[in-house]
Amino acid sequence: MKIVVIQGPNLNMLGIREKNVYGPMKLEDIHTQMKGFAEQNKIDIEFFQSNLEGEIVDRVQECLGDADGIIINPAAYTHTSIAIRDALSAVQLPTLEVHLSNIYQREEFRHTSLIAPVCSGQISGMGPFGYHLAMVGMTQLLNEVKMMKAQKVKAE
Ligand code: DQA
Repeated sequence: MKIVVIQGPNLNMLGIREKNVYGPMKLEDIHTQMKGFAEQNKIDIEFFQSNLEGEIVDRVQECLGDADGIIINPAAYTHTSIAIRDALSAVQLPTLEVHLSNIYQREEFRHTSLIAPVCSGQISGMGPFGYHLAMVGMTQLLNEVKMMKAQKVKAE
């Protein structure tokens, strides 16, 4: 089982950037916690952060045939990127969208996610713990997919 974690623009600035909104934790510390969960549950995990939309599109495409699930915080591209949405739609993998802040409590332009309709679910407003919730949720989703495939094989 392999999960790819994709982090959008400015998330490399966590711990420095608007601490009142995003908290003091650095991205690498969030990733260390996720790695710990992955190791305990025998899951392969890879991390990718980019400030560039096209690089995120490329990384999503690379997940095809390589990853079982995607956890993505598209950051500001959440509200603007049809390209990232289309890439997610193309690869058709179980995907969870994460936001540290509650995007629905903030400025109106953050209330719309172009990404959410092509995701299995969304976690918003739980801070860094949201990534842990996404790991638990993705594990459950992937186990369900595995069980459904096994049942299909049995029925054939
Ligand atoms: C964010 C919310 C976005 O609106 C914002 O542009 C970000 C971070 C979050 O994690 O809360 O960069 O995705």
